[in-house]
Amino acid sequence: MIVLGIETSCDETGAALVRDDGHVLADVVESQIASHAPFGGVVPEVASRDHVRNVGPVVRAALAEAGMKIDDVDAIAVTARPGLVGALLVGVQIAKGIALAAEKPLIGVDHLVGHLLAVFLRHPLTEARAVPEFPFVALLASGGHTAIYRVDGPDPSQCTELGATRDDAAGEAFDKVAKLLGLGYPGGPEIDRRALLGDPSRVKLRTPMPSSLEMSFSGLKSQVARWVEEQGALTEGAVNDACAAFQATATSTLADKLVRAARQENVTAVVLGGGVAANRELRQRVHDLAGKCGISAFVPPVACCTDNAAMIAYAGAMRLRRGETDGWNLNATSRTSLPRKTRKGRGAR
Ligand code: KG4
Ligand code: ZN
Repeated sequence: MIVLGIETSCDETGAALVRDDGHVLADVVESQIASHAPFGGVVPEVASRDHVRNVGPVVRAALAEAGMKIDDVDAIAVTARPGLVGALLVGVQIAKGIALAAEKPLIGVDHLVGHLLAVFLRHPLTEARAVPEFPFVALLASGGHTAIYRVDGPDPSQCTELGATRDDAAGEAFDKVAKLLGLGYPGGPEIDRRALLGDPSRVKLRTPMPSSLEMSFSGLKSQVARWVEEQGALTEGAVNDACAAFQATATSTLADKLVRAARQENVTAVVLGGGVAANRELRQRVHDLAGKCGISAFVPPVACCTDNAAMIAYAGAMRLRRGETDGWNLNATSRTSLPRKTRKGRGAR
């Protein structure tokens, strides 16, 4: 089975062709970073308009890359939730148009399920990678969502949230801290780069919520904000030290909670997903900590962690295998279908 996946939930326009064994035949991503960078963050209407402009060419490019025609495809999968509704609608509408014209089944996909299953993708370059078996415990850390799940199978009903952020997502914290330090958007990759050059011991940060599987990142960001206020003018070296300290605190708390959750669940595999899983230090810490505890760590290639349509095509293929398709009333929504447990905000639980 071959599925065409389309992704337009945020600021990347993606199209991919993926076989139901996870083999990626084509994976095209057109980033909108240049459109949003002048505003310091994603502007929803700009995102929708860029998707309108890019989605047709990106679908064509994916088909060309795989040397295929639409008739060779068995189904059209598209991100229908969660995300910016105007951006999602662009993908949903083009997916409907293609499915209607080519007489193919239409499958709506939850973007977060795509991130959780991205570990099963097999790129030609990474063919030899091992993939986990169910059940595993996964950390999904992106710009809009951060949570740890027990994953018993590919259906959203087989995912159990073990703990999530009470406030900002991890990627959001990276982006906001970068802004505080006068760095560009998106902040994650820039903090990652600068952290290598800095000394984390020069900026003292407390780890938020150390004893829980729930998380909080806005307090960590506020600690950096207070430190910036105390500094006055920031030297390059001081910015690098702050990047190193923030990244060390954020990634150690994420890695620690992930491995603790796996031990609590008696599960021997942990998986990383979402844009923050591209972070060098997080990948290393999860690898090291899991190794010490006899747990296998499955860390997808960076291109599978950040937003892409291959993970959407694969999640769609898993739905198609279960005989699930959607009707012409498929709609976009900003909310995930994954079960939620952690309540947002402060206060007693
Ligand atoms: O999953 P993703 O591509 O899009 C969403 O679904 O949100 O995640 C984007 C987020 C951004 O906040 C970005 O700063 C962060 O992932 N990110 C990183 C790195 N690369 C991307 N954060 C830390 N280190 C990185 N290397
Ligand atoms: Zn994402």
